[in-house]
Amino acid sequence: MKLTLRVWRQKNPDAPGAMATYELDGVSQDMSFLEMLDVLNEELIVKGDEPVAFDHDCREGICGACSLVINGDAHGPERTTTCQLHMRSFQDGDTIDIEPWRASAFPVIKDLVVDRSAFDRVIQAGGYITAPTGAAPEAHATPVPKADADFAFEHAECIGCGACVAACPNGAAMLFTSAKVNHLNVLPQGSPERETRVLDMVAQMDAEGFGGCTLTGECATACPKGIPLFSITAMNKEWLRATRKVKR
Ligand code: FES
Repeated sequence: MKLTLRVWRQKNPDAPGAMATYELDGVSQDMSFLEMLDVLNEELIVKGDEPVAFDHDCREGICGACSLVINGDAHGPERTTTCQLHMRSFQDGDTIDIEPWRASAFPVIKDLVVDRSAFDRVIQAGGYITAPTGAAPEAHATPVPKADADFAFEHAECIGCGACVAACPNGAAMLFTSAKVNHLNVLPQGSPERETRVLDMVAQMDAEGFGGCTLTGECATACPKGIPLFSITAMNKEWLRATRKVKR
């Protein structure tokens, strides 16, 4: 395939960015999107140009590092991570716009790489349990109802990629935060911090400058792991319950 790529280039957080156009030939439909960018970078390096900076790690849809807005959609036209998107989703002759996540809480570091440490700080505020560490306890020592286990597992699938924030017209992080709150709050191991967890994580989310949620649902549509929109309403219930129980 022959493609025209329009890629966001930005030298550093303070420099003005702009779209740069590159023609790329010989792209196989079997390549992943990131492999296609690897080919572009090899060509740029051979020409003595600066390669395009982009984030990635596992390339298996696990780590959440890859984060591109492709033709206006977070992670592109398929409901998957950018690293699991393949070039068969595009046609010969296509023009593809490639941009970083756009959200004020995710400032651009360089080209397509954004700073997502705001998510780390939300997790640090309460996304953990205080059970003593040591050998893994016997799996049946703490019974968990099947419905609760399924609920927790569904929310634990969040890989923290940030597509929910990038897709949201408000730049809100409610889907991410609710996934992290819900998967711990529903389990017995997470119950000692149930109230403080939701209060602290929501407060940190607000402090990081994410926008307010108006339940547009774009987040759940873009989420490559299918975190459902009701995750947000479940967290709102947890938050209301916590404000009644904990006086601050
Ligand atoms: S590189 Fe790890 S999820 Fe895409």
